[in-house]
Amino acid sequence: MALRLVVLVSSSGTNLQALLDACADPEFGAEVVAVGADRDGIQGLTRATDAGVPTFVHRVKDFGSREEWDAALAESVAAYEPDLVVSAGFMKLVGAAFLDRFGGKTLNTHPALLPSFPGMHGARDALEYGVKVTGATLFIVDAGVDTGMIMAQVTVPVEDDDTEETLHERIKVVERSMLVESVGRIAREGYTVDGRRVRFGRA
Ligand code: GRF
Repeated sequence: MALRLVVLVSSSGTNLQALLDACADPEFGAEVVAVGADRDGIQGLTRATDAGVPTFVHRVKDFGSREEWDAALAESVAAYEPDLVVSAGFMKLVGAAFLDRFGGKTLNTHPALLPSFPGMHGARDALEYGVKVTGATLFIVDAGVDTGMIMAQVTVPVEDDDTEETLHERIKVVERSMLVESVGRIAREGYTVDGRRVRFGRA
């Protein structure tokens, strides 16, 4: 049985596309069963529709409170009975209702080497700080801002003439491979957690 993935997106959805492409091969072991978003009109949703994957959208401003939005998001995700939720460029923090149901099985990608440069602008913050090496991190979402247990990391050298855009684009190339490789390994091997240390493979 393929690992059922629900992917959450907010923008261009190139990480989603990488997962959709990988899932086309049955040997990969996973399937994107739905794509959720916090806004309309984004390329991520078009990519899902083009792949024949159902979508849902919950905009925070359509709800009376952040908690109601979070509960609705959790409900929609739950309807697709995912084994794993992947937040792939989803620019919202999930809350208590979501984590009650999907804590421990929600992954997020971040365009920096956590715990350095958490938050909305990982690539820009690393560039402005002046680091010579940055990268991307895949982690298990918890209640903090990019504080979850680290599942995988990849590095990218910072070039002297980098701008936020050139650096982020180079990060995204390795970020996509990291995501695809890690989700495939989870599907085929599972993962185990010891303290904060995560490794692929069953205990
Ligand atoms: C990724 O770099 C992700 O880590 C960041 O936003 C980017 C999303 O890219 N939060 P895409 O929508 O998957 O193309």
